[in-house]
Amino acid sequence: MSFIIAIDGPAAAGKGTLSRRIAETYGFHHLDTGLTYRATAKALLDAGLPLDDEEVAATMAHEVDLAGLDRSVLAQHHIGEAASKIAVMPLVRRALVEAQRLFSSREPGTVLDGRDIGTVVCPQAQVKLYVTASPDVRARRRHDEIIANGGSANYAAIFEDVKKRDERDMGRADSPLKPADDAHLLDTSEMSIEAAFQAAKILIDAVLNPN
Ligand code: DC
Repeated sequence: MSFIIAIDGPAAAGKGTLSRRIAETYGFHHLDTGLTYRATAKALLDAGLPLDDEEVAATMAHEVDLAGLDRSVLAQHHIGEAASKIAVMPLVRRALVEAQRLFSSREPGTVLDGRDIGTVVCPQAQVKLYVTASPDVRARRRHDEIIANGGSANYAAIFEDVKKRDERDMGRADSPLKPADDAHLLDTSEMSIEAAFQAAKILIDAVLNPN
């Protein structure tokens, strides 16, 4: 049986970096499930199709190829916005969750990060982490990341965006963002990613090597 690490949390909490680091350390396969919602949204945008037709969006969701997810393209801001809109649709979620579950069974283990991994996609995961940080810290990190990559960014606009995204992700009826009852909370507001990784490693090692 595959070992599953579920990592959930709001946008820009640092769960992507943390998940990649964990997957690398343990030699596990990693899936950023946000990219599956982003790929579906991009396919709709590219085809000039509406973002509010659930049947059409679900058809696109079934076509998503997990092997072809390109983070550098899908990271674009407008794609994230569109992804957050189609992520409220139950038929889209059903299609993507099925593909994510299939991925989660890969040997020897997997790390999946997203919003509903510990609650809906893999409730049987051996380790569940809920990674969060205050909206201010998350907006600051996103801002600094854009500047570091040579872009231009407006902190106030990013802060508003983070709050809007939280409302949509936490407020939707189907699979809202929330910690699983048995998730370990990791608040990274005053913690470096390195410190968060060390904290996560202690939790994972305790399950992998109980003695
Ligand atoms: O993590 P991200 O910014 O790449 O996610 C983009 C959108 O996809 C996010 O606003 C909500 C949605 N999403 C989701 O509903 N469930 C997941 N497991 C992952 C992402």
